Amino acid sequence: MSTERTFIAIKPDGVQRGLIGPILTRFEQRGFKLVALKLTWANEGLLRQHYEDLQEKPFFPSLLSYMLSGPVLATVWEGKDVVKQGRVILGATNPLASAPGTIRGDFAIDMGRNVIHGSDSVETANREIGLWFKNEELVDYKSALNAWIY
Ligand code: PPS
Repeated sequence: MSTERTFIAIKPDGVQRGLIGPILTRFEQRGFKLVALKLTWANEGLLRQHYEDLQEKPFFPSLLSYMLSGPVLATVWEGKDVVKQGRVILGATNPLASAPGTIRGDFAIDMGRNVIHGSDSVETANREIGLWFKNEELVDYKSALNAWIY
């Protein structure tokens, strides 16, 4: 079985709105395995590294202040095709283009308050996991669920 991993972060609006439970449930119920989780108030240095490709975008200052406005729930999930499937679960970046049934399609309206982040490739996922987590924070365990999912 693939051990592909992805980085998923519930943004400050998602945390403040009490959406942690419903969002984690969607990943758990799909059959993905949680391997790391922490509630953390990110600092500007981390966010500038995380969004390094976007620093020249006109929306970058508002993205930065949004992400600094409260704690974020940083998570890592493991499973077959989890990077791509995670993005499907999230919906489109613009919530108004997100289908009902996706997280953004069900819980968000505005691009600047789009509730959740998910890595867009395996390479990005590995980079983001390394930025947000130390190696020892990634918990290696055998999930009994896996026998029923795969
Ligand atoms: S781009 O311009 O195509 O590179 O951007 P995109 O891939 O659509 O989005 C990259 C991240 O920037 C966030 N974003 C915004 N935040 C606030 N305001 C505006 N207008 C805005 N536009 C894009 C978008 O949510 C992506 O962040 P993540 O954390 O990956 O969702």
